[in-house]
Amino acid sequence: MAPETGIPSYHHDLDKLLNDLQMCHRCPLGDTRIHVVPGAGNPHAEVMFIGEAPGKNEDEKGVPFVGAAGKLLDEQLARIGLARDEIYIANILKCRPPHNRDPHPEEIELCTPWLREQVKAVHPTVLVTLGNFATKFILQTNTGITRLRGTVQVTGPFRVIPTFHPAAAIYDRSKLGAIEEDFDLLKLLLDTDAKRAEERLEE
Ligand code: URA
Repeated sequence: MAPETGIPSYHHDLDKLLNDLQMCHRCPLGDTRIHVVPGAGNPHAEVMFIGEAPGKNEDEKGVPFVGAAGKLLDEQLARIGLARDEIYIANILKCRPPHNRDPHPEEIELCTPWLREQVKAVHPTVLVTLGNFATKFILQTNTGITRLRGTVQVTGPFRVIPTFHPAAAIYDRSKLGAIEEDFDLLKLLLDTDAKRAEERLEE
């Protein structure tokens, strides 16, 4: 047990982590959820998307981003040639906050040790943070998403692309252009990585 987080170290065992998460009652959201929404996708993904928290549809299905925001996410992924099974998607909170309210700081503190272990297990090189909660947590910053989007940030071994949460573009269509730019930036990063890897093979 890592005393500072209160959850075990999973030593990259994603299946065990996902299994243990099903029993989590570290915060009161464990009492109101229908399903835990641990995350989904390729367990060896290069790119991990991090959202905020499950909504109603996700709570009912136990799968992240299956509602309207998920549809927009899928459209953007398809536009840059990525499928869901090539990436991994997780959230800051694994259980739905009632009435989709914002996550509380103590919920973030209690839930994010799971995310940390999940990131270690999936071992991505790029994190795409969707919205303010994910961006502020991953970059440990108070700077808002409007200032940070459109850039590539670096934290530890990760390159981080902050972008608006897809739900924000549903209510404010003017944010869609910015999301498209940020997904284009992701594609550029991945294409450049692939080209470098190819060149290294040819050396
Ligand atoms: N919004 C999120 O942040 N995560 C989900 O899984 C669904 C909607």
